[in-house]
Amino acid sequence: MLYQIYPRSFADSNGDGIGDLRGVVDHLEYLEWLGVDGVWLSPITVSPNADWGYDVADYCAVQPDYGTLSDLDELVAEAGRRAIRVLLDLVPNHTSDRHPWFVDARESRSARHRDWYVWADPKTGGSAPNNWVSSFGGPAWTLDDASGQYYLHNFLPEQPDLNWWNDHVRDAFDEVLRFWFDRGVAGFRIDVCHMIVKDADLRDNPPARADDHWMARVFGQRSIYNANQPEVHEILRRWRRLADSYDPPRVLIGETNVEELDILARYYGRGDDELHLAFNFPFINAAFDAEALRAVVETTEHLLPADAWPVWTGSNHDVSRLATRWASSDPEKSRAAIMMLLTLRGTPVLYQGDEIGLTDATVTEQDLHDPVGRRFWPAYAGRDPVRSPMPWRDEPGGGFTDPDVKPWLPFGNIAAHNVASQRHRPDSQLQLTRDLIGFRKRTPDLQTGDSTQTPAPAGLWAWRRGERIVVALNLSDSHNALEGLTGTIAIATDRTRDGEPVSGPLDLRPWEGVVVTTS
Ligand code: GLC
Ligand code: CA
Repeated sequence: MLYQIYPRSFADSNGDGIGDLRGVVDHLEYLEWLGVDGVWLSPITVSPNADWGYDVADYCAVQPDYGTLSDLDELVAEAGRRAIRVLLDLVPNHTSDRHPWFVDARESRSARHRDWYVWADPKTGGSAPNNWVSSFGGPAWTLDDASGQYYLHNFLPEQPDLNWWNDHVRDAFDEVLRFWFDRGVAGFRIDVCHMIVKDADLRDNPPARADDHWMARVFGQRSIYNANQPEVHEILRRWRRLADSYDPPRVLIGETNVEELDILARYYGRGDDELHLAFNFPFINAAFDAEALRAVVETTEHLLPADAWPVWTGSNHDVSRLATRWASSDPEKSRAAIMMLLTLRGTPVLYQGDEIGLTDATVTEQDLHDPVGRRFWPAYAGRDPVRSPMPWRDEPGGGFTDPDVKPWLPFGNIAAHNVASQRHRPDSQLQLTRDLIGFRKRTPDLQTGDSTQTPAPAGLWAWRRGERIVVALNLSDSHNALEGLTGTIAIATDRTRDGEPVSGPLDLRPWEGVVVTTS
C-alpha cells in the first residue's frame, strides 16, 4: 500500500509555514502505525515553483524549503527502519526554464543544449509551428525572440519540454535515476509519463469530435501526436533495465493520464519490461457508481498483461479529493471508497488525508498559488483546494505548523477532519483505513488472490478475492441484499457489524460496505 505525500503540505518542522522533509521524518511513526509500505513524495528537488516543484531546476539537489540531501538520506534510513520505502517524483517531460540546460539552450541556435529541447521555426506568417495546446491552456509554443524560434511546452512557458529523441537527454536522465537509486530511493513516480516523446515531425493534432472523451473536447483536439508515441516505450524499457539492475530492484510508477484502458495496458509492456505500475485515470475519473467502476475494473483486469499489477487511486495532488468528488462529503460514501481501494486486486495508493476523509478546502482568490487556478479562476479554482495542509490536530496551526504561523495554503475544515481526533476513535475513518490495511496484510487472498466479479443486484458491487474473501459495496441510496453467502463479516464500514455471522441474504444499508470471510 502506497501513500502519496505532498511535502509542502504534510508537516512543517521549522515554523516557516511550509512542510519539509524533517516534518515527514517526524511523522514516520504515524505512517508505520497506519501500515504504509511506501511513500511517494511529490517533487522535493530544486524548483522556482512556477508549478510548485514540477518545474525542476536541479534534478539532483533538494529544494532548500524542504531541507537538505542529508535530511533526505535520513528520511530514507529512518523510513527503512520502519519498513517504509521512499519513492520520489521524476519529472522528465520538461525542466524549469531556469534549469542550466535551458538557460544554455536559449543562448543561441548552436548552443550545446539547444537540441535538448523542442525548437521549431514559425510557420510562414509567424504563427506557432503546429496546433498543439498546453495542458494548462493556451498554445503549447512560446516564441524565443532572440533566436526567432518557438520552443515547446506542454504545460507552462516556464516548463520547456525536453527533446527525448536526443540521446544526451536519455543519458542525463539515466544519471538522475542512478543518483537517487544509489542513495537508497526505492523508485519513482514518473510525471506525465505518456507524453515525454513527441511526434518527430511535429504534426498537427486532429480536431476533437463531439463524441470524444471530455479531455479531448476541453483541448479542442485529440492528443494523437503529442502523447502516447511508440518510442516512449523504448525509454520505459531502458529505465526498467536500470531499475532491475539494482538490488533490491527499484519500482517505476507512471502518471499515465490516458483516456483508454487499452493504451494504459501498453505501459506495462510485456508485463515485466516497462512500468511496474501505471496510474489508472479512467478509474479515477469514473463516477462513484457500481456499474461504472465495475466496468473499469473488469476491463482493466482483462487488458493488463498476465502478471501485471493494477493501481487503484481516488485522489492525488491534481484532482478533487475522493471525499469530495466521489463521496460528495458524505462520510458513508467516503468509507465505502476507502474499502474499495484497499480490497481490489492491485496496489492501492492513498493520498495524504484520504485516510481521515479529508475534503477539498475552500481557497479564496487571494490565497491561490496554483498557476492553473490563477488562470481559470473563478470557473475553476485549480489544485490548491486539494493541496491544503494536513490537519493533524484541531488547534491553531493544525499540528502542521506553529500556532502563530500562517501556512502557505489555508486549511480545510480541521474540526471535521483531523488525525488526532480520529486516531483513538474505533469507529473513525482513520481506524477503518488502518484496520483494512492490517487485514489485507494478514490475508493472502486479499494481497494476491485472483479477482472475480460476483453477480449482484443493481447498485451493489461485489467481487471475490482468492478462495474465501468477498467484498460487497452498496453504492446506492437504497437497501440492497446479496444472496448466497455464508461466513463472517471481517470488517464493515459500520464497525458495529464486524464479526457478524452471515447466512442467508446479507442486507446492506445505503453506501454500506463489508469484507466477508466465507466459510
Ligand atoms: C503532472 C503533475 C502536475 C503537474 C504536471 C506538469 O500532471 O501531477 O501536478 O502540474 O504534471 O508537470
Ligand atoms: Ca518548514
